[in-house]
Amino acid sequence: MPGPGIDWEALRLAAVAAATHAYCPYSRFPVGVAGITTDGRTYAACNVENAAYGVGLCAECGLVSALHMGGGGQFAGVYCVGADGRALMPCGRCRQLLWENGGGDCLLMTPVGIRAMADVLPQAFGRDDLDRLAGT
Ligand code: THU
Repeated sequence: MPGPGIDWEALRLAAVAAATHAYCPYSRFPVGVAGITTDGRTYAACNVENAAYGVGLCAECGLVSALHMGGGGQFAGVYCVGADGRALMPCGRCRQLLWENGGGDCLLMTPVGIRAMADVLPQAFGRDDLDRLAGT
C-alpha cells in the first residue's frame, strides 16, 4: 500500500481535533480534515455551515485556504474524518479541490484504505485541460 512516508495516525488525530471546531448546527455532522504537504507542513480544518444552507463550507474548503495562507504547495496526503473519527470520503466538489491542490498522486485515506486521488477522481478535469484548449 502506498504512503509509507506519511504518519497517517498523526494526520487522523489532527483531523479529529479539527472536527471539534466544526460549526454544523444544521446538519449536526461535524467533519475534520488534515493534510500534509510534499514538504512536510500539516494543515487542518473543519466544516462551517450557514443559515443559507447552500453556502456552507466543507472542511476541505478551509484546508485549501489554510494551505495557501501557509505558503501554498501541494498536498501529499489527506485524511478526512466524521464524528466517529474514521475516514470519510470527501464529497465530489471537495475531491476537485484536492485535485487542484495535490494532483493525482496525492494520497487519500478512505474507508477501504489509502488511495491515490487519481483513483477516487478518475479522468479529473484540471488545469491541463485549460492549457490544452487555450487559444482555440
Ligand atoms: N462535509 C464536509 O465538510 N466535507 C465533505 O467532503 C462532505 C461533507 C460537510 C458539509 C456539511 O457541513 C456536512 O458535512 C453535512 O453534509
